[in-house]
Amino acid sequence: HDVSPQRSVDIASRTPPYHKLVKKLEEVRRVLGSSRQLTLAEKILYSHLDKPEESLLSNTNNGRDIWGKANLKLKPDRVAMQDASAQMALLQFMSCGLPSTAVPASIHCDHMIVGEKGADTDLPRSITGNKEVFDFLESAGKKYGIEFWPPGAGIIHQSVLENYSAPGLMMLGTDSHTPNAGGLGAIAIGVGGADAVDALVDAPWELKAPKILGVRLEGELSGWASPKDVILSLVGQLTVRGGTGYIIEYFGPGVQSLSCTGMGTICNMGAEVGATTSIFPFSPAHVPYLEATHRGPIAQAASKIASSPMQRNLLRADPEADYDKVITINLSTLEPHINGPFTPDLSTPLSKFKSVVEEKDWPRTFGAGLIGSCTNSSYEDMTRSEELVKQASAAGLSPKVEFFITPGSEQIRATLERDNTLSTFSSAGGIVLANACGPCIGQWKRTDEVKKGEDNAILTSYNRNFPGRNDGNRKTMNFLASPELITAMTYSGSTTFNPITDSIPTPSGTPFKFSPPKGSYLPSAGFADGNPDFQPTPGVPDPNVEVIVDPNSTRLALLDPFPEFPNSELTSLRVLYKVKGQCTTDTISAAGPWLKYKGHLPNISENTLIGAVNADTDEVNVAYDVDGTKSSIPELAKRWKEQGLEWLVVAEHNYGEGSAREHAALQPRYLGGRVILAKSFARIHETNLKKQGIVPLTFANEADYDLLNACDEVATRGLLDVLRSGGKGEVELAVKKDGDEKVIKTTHTLSEDQCAFVLAGSALNVLAVNARE
Ligand code: F3S
Repeated sequence: HDVSPQRSVDIASRTPPYHKLVKKLEEVRRVLGSSRQLTLAEKILYSHLDKPEESLLSNTNNGRDIWGKANLKLKPDRVAMQDASAQMALLQFMSCGLPSTAVPASIHCDHMIVGEKGADTDLPRSITGNKEVFDFLESAGKKYGIEFWPPGAGIIHQSVLENYSAPGLMMLGTDSHTPNAGGLGAIAIGVGGADAVDALVDAPWELKAPKILGVRLEGELSGWASPKDVILSLVGQLTVRGGTGYIIEYFGPGVQSLSCTGMGTICNMGAEVGATTSIFPFSPAHVPYLEATHRGPIAQAASKIASSPMQRNLLRADPEADYDKVITINLSTLEPHINGPFTPDLSTPLSKFKSVVEEKDWPRTFGAGLIGSCTNSSYEDMTRSEELVKQASAAGLSPKVEFFITPGSEQIRATLERDNTLSTFSSAGGIVLANACGPCIGQWKRTDEVKKGEDNAILTSYNRNFPGRNDGNRKTMNFLASPELITAMTYSGSTTFNPITDSIPTPSGTPFKFSPPKGSYLPSAGFADGNPDFQPTPGVPDPNVEVIVDPNSTRLALLDPFPEFPNSELTSLRVLYKVKGQCTTDTISAAGPWLKYKGHLPNISENTLIGAVNADTDEVNVAYDVDGTKSSIPELAKRWKEQGLEWLVVAEHNYGEGSAREHAALQPRYLGGRVILAKSFARIHETNLKKQGIVPLTFANEADYDLLNACDEVATRGLLDVLRSGGKGEVELAVKKDGDEKVIKTTHTLSEDQCAFVLAGSALNVLAVNARE
C-alpha cells in the first residue's frame, strides 16, 4: 500500500452552514419565546427546519408541547449511503430527473465485502462478485456529483466521522448506525432510501419531534473501562425499546474526558435502544480530531461559536434546558460490561460474568474474538488493544482462539500499518480483514470447526448480536464487549476469564496477569492517507457520464413510476391474502439471500409476503385464486397484475413492525397492491406505504376482520373525496359476498401531503414533478 502525501479536502462542502443555522435559531427563539430553554439536540434540529413557525406550531399548543406532537419539516445538510441501501435510494433519485443532488452526498461500499482469509484475498473476490452493483454506484455517483468511496475505502460510519461529521451538522444516512456521527456533535439520523431522496432533491424531510433523554456523565474513565462500557451499561438500563421516540443527549463534566472517537462509539450503539439519534456537545477533544482529519477550519469555526459569550449559543444546551428524563452515569466507578447473547440489552458487569455464564450454562469457551468495525476501530481502541498484545507476547503467550481485526477505514488501517500496530496483531496470529463490514453483517465465511446449528460463543466489539447476524448460525452466541477486553480474553479462550483479576499460565510456568491497557487518542505523526485508489471521486456532477445498468442484470433494474390514482373510486379491488397474526417487514420482504436483489424491484418482489400465515387455512405463503388454484402469494399477485387486477391485503395488529425496510412497501405496490386494511399499523411502515402510494386503512371495528376472506371483491367509498380534500372524511369498503353487500367502516391517518402522494402514484412522483418545475 502506498502512503500518499496529505490530501486537501473540500472544506466548503463539509462545513455546516453556521451563519444560516445561527439565524434560524434566532427565528426559532422568536417563535417559542426567548425565555424558552432548549437542549442542544433541539437547537440543531430546529435550526434545520424549513419553516420554523409552521413546524413548531403544528399539532401543538402554541409550541409548548412540541415533543411527540409537532411534525418537523427539516432540511438536512448532507446524506450518506451504504452500498446495499444506496441502490434503491439512487434508483429512486434517478427517476426524479435532476442533474445533481441538492445537498452534498456520499456513497460507501462496505456491506457487500466478505471477511474470510484477510483483506488481500477477500477484497478482490468481493469486488468481482459485486462488480455490476459497484459499477452502477460509481457511475451514478460521478453523474450526480456524489462522492463515491470504493470497496476497501472504509465503513460508512467511520468514513463519515473522519470526513463529514461536524458540530451542528444535520445529516441523514441510509443505515441504522448513522448516529455514530453524533460523536462529533452532529444530529445524524438513519433512514430508508425514499427519505434520503427527500433530502437529495431538496424536499423537506418530515420527522415527528422526538423527546430528549439526557445522559449526564460524571467522573472520568480509567483502567479497563472504556467508552464502549458506557453504552453497554446504558443499553442494559434502557432495553432495546427504551429509546424509541427519543434523541439521547449527553452532557455533564464527564464528557470532557472522552475522545471524539469514543463518543462516536457511544452514539453508534444508541441505535440499539431504538433512539432516533444520539449527540454529544462540542468538546475540547473535537478540535484535535478535526485538525488531524484535515478539517482545521471547521474546528476554528465551531470553537468560535461555542465560546461566544452568549451562553445560549448553537453548540451547547441552554443552562436550564429541560430533558424528558435524565440518567446519570459515573465514569469513575464504571466497570467493563459484556452484553448478550442474542440481544444487546442483556448487560452483565465483568465481575459477575463468570457466575452468570455458569448459572445460565453458556459455553465456557469461545471460538473467536473479533475487534474493530464501524463501532470500535479508532486509533485509541486499536492502540489499547495492541498494548495488551505486546504485554502477552512479552510473556510468551499467543491468542488461544481466532483473532480478527477489522479496521474501519483505509485512513485508520494505513496509520496502524505505519505505526506497526497491525504487524503486532499479525505476529501474534491476528488476521486483518478488509476495511469493510464483513463479519458484522453476516459476511463472514467462518472456517473453524463450528457446524451450523451448533451452540458456540464468539466475542465481538461490534454493535448488534441478533441470532445469525455474524456467521449465519442462529446458535452462535455473540457477546459484545470493548476491543481491549476481547483482545485480553482471546489469550485465555475462556468466557469466564476476567483479565482484571485472573492470570494465565505462561510457557515458563509463571502466571501472567495483564496490566490495564494504555493507548493513544490520536497518532503523534498524524493520520496516513493510505492507498490513493481508496480516495473518493470528487463531488462534482458530470452530465456526460452514463449510469451503468445492464438491461439483462438480475440485480439492478431502473424504476418505472407508479401509475397515478384513477379519477374514480377503486371499484374492483380483490383480497389477495388475509394474514393471520404477526406480519413484520421481514414477513413482507424477507432478508438473507434476497438482499442481493435490493436494486431489482421485480426480482426482490418474488419474496413478497412469503412469511405470511393464511388466516383461512393456516398455511404459510399459500394463496388461492378465485377458481381455487393454489400458488404462492407472489405468484398470485403477479398473475393478478398481468390481468390488470388491483388488490388489497387484510391483516391484524401492528402490520409492518420491525425494521423500517422500504421494500416492504415498494414490493406490494409494484405487484398491484392499492390498500392494506389492518387492525393497526406500525408507524414507520404506515408512512412508508403512503409514500409508495398505498392507502393504509384501519378497521373502525376490529371484529369486521372476520367479515372478509381471500378473493372477496371490495369497492372503496369516499376514498377519492378524502384524497382530494387533503385527508378530510372517512373511507368505507363495500364487500360483495354471495350476492349480498356488507359495508366496513375504516379510519385513516392521511395528511394533506400524503394524500398528494397517493393521488400522484407515489411521493417520488410528486418530488419528480416539483424537481422539474
Ligand atoms: Fe453496520 Fe456493522 Fe457495517 S454496524 S455499517 S454492518 S460494520
